[in-house]
Amino acid sequence: MSEQRFKPVFIFIDTDKHASPFDILMTIDLVPDVMVLKYENVTPEDVEKIVYDALFPRGPKGVKFTKIFVNGSNLEVVNAVVEKIKKCMFPPFELAVIVDPRGSYTTASAAVVKTLEVTQKLGLGVIEGKNVTVLAGTGPVGIAATWLYAAEKAAKVVVTSRDFAKAQKIASKINDELKTDVVKPFQARASEEVGKAIEDADIVLATGAPGVQLLPLNTLKTYGKRVKVVADCNAVPPYGIEGLDPKLDGKEVVPGVYGVGALAIGTLKNKIEAELIKKALQERKGIFDFRAAYEIGKAMLSTTK
Ligand SMILES: NC(=O)c1ccc[n+]([C@@H]2O[C@H](COP(=O)([O-])OP(=O)(O)OC[C@H]3O[C@@H](n4cnc5c(N)ncnc54)[C@H](OP(=O)(O)O)[C@@H]3O)[C@@H](O)[C@H]2O)c1
Repeated sequence: MSEQRFKPVFIFIDTDKHASPFDILMTIDLVPDVMVLKYENVTPEDVEKIVYDALFPRGPKGVKFTKIFVNGSNLEVVNAVVEKIKKCMFPPFELAVIVDPRGSYTTASAAVVKTLEVTQKLGLGVIEGKNVTVLAGTGPVGIAATWLYAAEKAAKVVVTSRDFAKAQKIASKINDELKTDVVKPFQARASEEVGKAIEDADIVLATGAPGVQLLPLNTLKTYGKRVKVVADCNAVPPYGIEGLDPKLDGKEVVPGVYGVGALAIGTLKNKIEAELIKKALQERKGIFDFRAAYEIGKAMLSTTK
C-alpha cells in the first residue's frame, strides 16, 4: 500500500480583525500545493482549541506538514498567543511556528543585518563592541532590533522613547532575558535630546512610526560626530532620518556617515521572510521568530561576501 501523501498546510493565526494578505500571498507563491487556513481576531484563550485540532488529525507523520504563522499588531497579545501554542505541543505532536507580527521581526532582522553589512564594508568589523542607538525603539521593530544588537554584544544599545518609563520597561526586559546591562533607556522628544542619544553612537537605527521624522540632518551633523552608519525603517515621508533616501543602500548621507534607507531594508526583509517560510517548511518543529530571521539574514551576508 502506498504511503499517504500529506499536503503542506499553513495555518495563519492573526490577533487582528483581518489576517494580513501579505504573508499569505508570499506563502502561496513559495510553497507548491499549499493549503492555507486562517483564523482572525484570535485571543490567547482561543489557542488551545485551534492548535490541538491542528496537531492530531494527521497523526505523528502528517503533523510535520502542518505549519503555523502567527501575526498581529499587538506584540503583547502575539507573545501570549505564542506562549500558549508552545504549551500545547509535546513530542511527537510538535510543529514549526513562524512569528512575524505585521512584518516587524523580519524587518528588524533585515535592518540589523544591513547595518552589519555596511559596518563590515567600511572595515569596522562586527557589531560586538560598538555603540548603537535605536531611535523610537519601543515598537515591535525597535524591540526586536534592540534585542539583536544586545545579543550581538554591542557595547551599549541606547533605546529611545518619548516616554522614559516605556524605554525603561523594554531595556529591563531585554537585559533580563540576555543577562546583560548593555541596553540603556533614554528619553528623547526634542531634537537636542535625540542629539544627546546619538552622541557616542557608531550605529543609529530609526524604528519610528510611519511618517515621523526622528532625526533632523542638522542634529546628525552636530551631535553625531562618532556615527558611521545610519539606517531607517520608515518608508513613509517624512522619513525617520532627514536626508536618508529610502532607496539608499550603503552610500554617504553626509560626509563620513553611510546610510541604509527603508526600501533597501524592505528588499532584504522580503528575502529573509521567503527563506524563513522555506526553513519552517523543511523543519519538523521550532519557533521561527526574529532570532531565526536574523540568522538567515546573516547567512545571506556571508554567502554574498
Ligand atoms: N518594510 C516592512 O515590511 C515593514 C514592516 C514593519 C514595519 N515597518 C516600518 O518600521 C517602522 C517601525 O515599525 P513599528 O511597527 O515598530 O512602529 P510603531 O510601533 O508604529 O512605532 C514605533 C515607535 O514610534 C514612536 N512614535 C509613534 N508616533 C510618534 C510621533 N508622532 N513622534 C515621535 N515618535 C513616535 C513610538 O515610540 P514612543 O511612544 O516610545 O516615543 C512608537 O513606539 C515603521 O516606520 C514601519 O512602517 C516596515
